[in-house]
Amino acid sequence: MLNKKSNTILTKNGYRLIDKMKEDVSSYAPGRRRLWLFHEANLGNPPTTKAAHFDKFWWDLGQRLYPGCQIALLTFGGETENFSSDARISWHRDHSYAMPCALGISFGAKAIFGYDYSRQSGDKRKIKLAPGTIFQFDCKHLHAVLKHDPGRFSIMYWKLRLDGRYPGLKICKKISSLL
Ligand SMILES: [Fe+2]
Repeated sequence: MLNKKSNTILTKNGYRLIDKMKEDVSSYAPGRRRLWLFHEANLGNPPTTKAAHFDKFWWDLGQRLYPGCQIALLTFGGETENFSSDARISWHRDHSYAMPCALGISFGAKAIFGYDYSRQSGDKRKIKLAPGTIFQFDCKHLHAVLKHDPGRFSIMYWKLRLDGRYPGLKICKKISSLL
């Protein structure tokens, strides 16, 4: 759990990137604005990645909390001068680009996360995320963002699945020089 001051710093660094956010293409999250960081995954089959926006603040934080992570997604739910974004996402498992361990930070405003404690499904629970909550979970379990207050950001960090099963998943030059 981050303290108030850290939550404020993260929120400032979320708003700093808000103009770079694009409408999500995921059918689970219609109306959500998001920004891929370090790499972008195409969500197709087979999955592929390409280089995405690099941001030093979010890179350094990711390496402190989840050393070796190489891909992240920053999302926002709320209103700005230019758009309105609904950051809810319905029940899903993360795509095959990602290894099972995901690390998230929910900040800016509170949210309710849904997580199925059973891999096969059948043990869905609601978890309150106060602003500044850091959480780690198995992203191959069903999960969702069920509700959030306006002004809520989240960043999720993952490691790419690099066991050779999906040759389209590659680390770009910039990131491999940093790892
Ligand atoms: Fe997810």
